[in-house]
Amino acid sequence: MYDVIPLPYSYNALMPVVDEETLNIHYNKHHKKYAENLNNLTNSNIPLEQIPKRIDEFPLKDRGQVLYNAGGILNHNLYFQSLNSNFSLPKGKLLNKINNDYGSFDNFKKIFINKSKNLVGSGYTFLVTDNVGNLTIINLPNQETPLSYDLIPLFTIDLWEHAYYLKYKNNRNTYIENIWSKANFDHASKTYENLF
Ligand SMILES: [Fe+2]
Repeated sequence: MYDVIPLPYSYNALMPVVDEETLNIHYNKHHKKYAENLNNLTNSNIPLEQIPKRIDEFPLKDRGQVLYNAGGILNHNLYFQSLNSNFSLPKGKLLNKINNDYGSFDNFKKIFINKSKNLVGSGYTFLVTDNVGNLTIINLPNQETPLSYDLIPLFTIDLWEHAYYLKYKNNRNTYIENIWSKANFDHASKTYENLF
């Protein structure tokens, strides 16, 4: 059975940037639905993280939906771990690499925010690393995951309307800017530290 991670904080932890109702619906309705859909499609034992690279082991007719729903779980697991009630800077090797490649964290943040503003339609902005530690900021549509491109996702911001619409309506750019006060790089820093 595939499942989502427990939400790492309470439904009001991201207020006032993300209101309680949005977070509750996002986690309990949207996120959990991807796991329910995936379990209805397959009883595979392939670990969730390996599904994007092993998609050809699923029946051809199911591959699109398996990939979509597995991506939905993976991307939301990362999104919820990329936020917390308190902002936290990258640490250790990740902070050094960001400072080296982007000049400063503030410049990195500016580039990431601009990338998010340029996403067309639904999707995510990711900070990813390749298998030797090179960082890139990328946008992917819908529930595509960087794992499909041999990239390891470290941090992400969900840009689907369900992530912000109750509070921000059509003002996506305000959500994109405000969410950074809840950005938390603890998970990204640990992942990067363990890899390189
Ligand atoms: Fe979402």
